[in-house]
Amino acid sequence: MTSSIQDKLKDIVALAKRRGFVYPCSEIYGGFANSYSFGPYGALLKKNIKDAWWRTFTQLRSDMVGLDGPILLHPKVWEASGHVAGFHDALVDCKSCKSRFRADHLIENALHREVEGLPLSEVTAIIHDNKIPCPKCKAVDWTDARQFNLMFHTPLKKTKNGEEEEIAYLRPETAQAIFIDFKNIIDTMRKRVPFGVAQMGKAFRNEITPGNFIFRVIEFEQMEIEYFIPPTGWESHFEQWLATMKEWCRLIGLKEEKLKLYEHPQDKLSHYSKRTVDILYEFPFGWSELYGLAYRTDFDLKQHAEHSKTKILYTDPETQEKYVPHVIEPTFGVERTFLALLCQSYEEQTLGEGDVRTVLHLPPTLAPIKVAVFPLMRKDGLAEIADAIFKALSPHFQAEYDEGGAIGKRYRRQDEIGTPFCVTIDYQTKEDGTVTLRHRDSMKQERVHKDELLTVIKNLMQTG
Ligand code: GAP
Repeated sequence: MTSSIQDKLKDIVALAKRRGFVYPCSEIYGGFANSYSFGPYGALLKKNIKDAWWRTFTQLRSDMVGLDGPILLHPKVWEASGHVAGFHDALVDCKSCKSRFRADHLIENALHREVEGLPLSEVTAIIHDNKIPCPKCKAVDWTDARQFNLMFHTPLKKTKNGEEEEIAYLRPETAQAIFIDFKNIIDTMRKRVPFGVAQMGKAFRNEITPGNFIFRVIEFEQMEIEYFIPPTGWESHFEQWLATMKEWCRLIGLKEEKLKLYEHPQDKLSHYSKRTVDILYEFPFGWSELYGLAYRTDFDLKQHAEHSKTKILYTDPETQEKYVPHVIEPTFGVERTFLALLCQSYEEQTLGEGDVRTVLHLPPTLAPIKVAVFPLMRKDGLAEIADAIFKALSPHFQAEYDEGGAIGKRYRRQDEIGTPFCVTIDYQTKEDGTVTLRHRDSMKQERVHKDELLTVIKNLMQTG
């Protein structure tokens, strides 16, 4: 049972493991830091998030197309994008216990002071002068701060004599594949600026993390949009996209009071951005970035044109004006959406003396399982009827059949994974063909004829 807000994350992590949403990575080998596996229900929740995003931003919009670019791109992409030269974290090592920390996090936590943008020598001096102790072993014995590039890399191939090898980077953002295929997309897709390209997929960053579960991991999924606009008038597109991102948050059920905006100060913007606004969510560990919106100007297309020596230009079909489009980038993290949804929907309800029900109030469209089907007993032909109902529902919804244990326990298990509807087949079903339909949030039960179940659940799914 939750005793404080801080414990809420622990309860969520425990539920995620207990109920097959998220497992620690490589657990049987002692674990692998900052990486997680998504279990059967986690995989479904993730898929539902991505399906909803793809439907919202590609299927329902005539100004958007999708792309599925590779994880490994030409190494020069990352030189052009600025990631080879500038995608760094300053890290320090504790010489005593050999733990490694992000220097900015170490200073922020100990001194409540921001150091972003300071030279390495100053960062080192702050740590030494203030005798900041190691959070793990309490020793004050630090290396100097050093820059570490966040990109993972892998040897690609060797030259004939086997001595040199080319380095390929695992993409740290999905965005670049869109920029380098911009020319292909305008040549093949008959799209007119303004239009956008959406992509989702894995990204990798060699991050040192403070252990906030799946909030910051080394392998994660992004859902990104690069929205191409004319060189002037970016402000209105930016505002429109901010409103659209807020609407997405509303659509997936994130409460407005749990969201706020953070405007990046001009002197702390990424090298490609002229304006960045983050949408923060109030996680149990505090307000932290959920999504981001950036005005990337024409930086990326120009960089790729220059580095690849290719003309990347758009010709306005009416005025014949040729220009390099500018870009508004709304970016969404899948794991952070997943975590925000778990935090938002997790509730421990006290129903009576010593009776606490844990329930995930996930929106029905995102819930891993939409309907669970139970025979009250295995015997007397009830299991056969239940199996037939499961087979009739499962082509339409992700359904689950469960015939083991007390019915109350089966309901509670489904509550914990956020299943909005449960159907129980009992002896009355044999008499009049009706089943019990139980609603997750209200726990209300009603009798519905089994032949009407599909229509009734379809309607309930639509009304939320
Ligand atoms: N293309 C722009 C870009 O990559 P970002 O703010 O670095 O911007 C975009 O990342 C989103 O990806 C973030 O808002 C967050 O949702 C997610 N994200 C970034 N790093 C992450 C990590 N280490 N683990 C989980 N999600 C991450």
